[in-house]
Amino acid sequence: METTIRRGDDFHTHLREGEMLEKVLPFSNIWGRVTVMGNLSKPVATAHDVIKYRNKILQLNPKFIPIMSVMLVNSATPEILRKTFEAGAKVLKLIPGGASTNSSEGVGLENLHIYYPVLEEAQKLGMIFSGHWELATNPLGGEEISEVEREERAMPYLEKIIASFPNLKIIVEHATTKGMIEFVKNAPANVASTLTVHHALLTYNRVYHCDGINPFNYCKPVAKFVYDRKAIVEAMISGNPKFFFGSDSAPHLPERKRGQNPAAGIFTPAEVALTMLTEIFDSFGALSELENFISMSGAEFYDLPLNKDFITLRRKKWTVPKDYNGIVPFMAGHELKWKIVK
Ligand code: NCD
Ligand code: ZN
Ligand code: ZN
Repeated sequence: METTIRRGDDFHTHLREGEMLEKVLPFSNIWGRVTVMGNLSKPVATAHDVIKYRNKILQLNPKFIPIMSVMLVNSATPEILRKTFEAGAKVLKLIPGGASTNSSEGVGLENLHIYYPVLEEAQKLGMIFSGHWELATNPLGGEEISEVEREERAMPYLEKIIASFPNLKIIVEHATTKGMIEFVKNAPANVASTLTVHHALLTYNRVYHCDGINPFNYCKPVAKFVYDRKAIVEAMISGNPKFFFGSDSAPHLPERKRGQNPAAGIFTPAEVALTMLTEIFDSFGALSELENFISMSGAEFYDLPLNKDFITLRRKKWTVPKDYNGIVPFMAGHELKWKIVK
């Protein structure tokens, strides 16, 4: 059995820099366009940073089409943002301070109101505000919030932004809870959500207990409960244009994943993501919605033309490699049911 779909896009990827960038870039090639997050060791925050980072990517692969982002850091101003836009940045990206990898300069959710002029500028320029919506620390008492509660605890801040910026395109990245899925469904049309492959498959138990502790299944936001996973899959296969693909592929060296405090992030090469998504949609008899999720809804939200070429997949078993250039992928060593043939 075969299925042919329009080439898709990945609206959330971490390509990193230096050697890691060289190692992982080829494994995003299947996507038409890729939103590249700028949480490098020194965040992409200015027009100069955007140009430099894009050039590094294009030097390695001139055919690659990155959608550049700029991080909402504490030093952000409307003027700086406008210049990044003129330099080609399309996405203003938020990882609240301390919420995930390389976010120490990120604006805290409790301080977002101070940056309203920056968000106003983003709205005016038609940039997309793409955010990692998690509250890691209670701004009042200072205590750490449990990982499973962090997404829910970010919702009041998100609600305020939505109410204050009716024309700002807002993305809830990697939604992981039933509550957030419902929230996005009920939000106005300028609010959408990217969904990952791993959150459609994992629950908290698989991260921490199945096959022993598996740090390669650990990411932020952490995978939640069975009913959350079900809500994610339902949203994915529903055809609702508010939900589209963003892998959140976030490679780390194996030594950073193993050991006491594993780095958060799951590396999802495009061939793993695409074939795994096909398997998920197929298992629900929803192959006809696959194209909406990976090739149409996101492009529409981003105001991009649809990719013009097509990819064919066949129901044929293959085994995910144990590593890609030394980086352990999601589903390493697992047998998948669909393979890309063309
Ligand atoms: C991402 C990373 O490592 O850059 N990690 C993750 O667990 N998803 C950052 C992020 O998207 O939160
Ligand atoms: Zn994130
Ligand atoms: Zn991410």
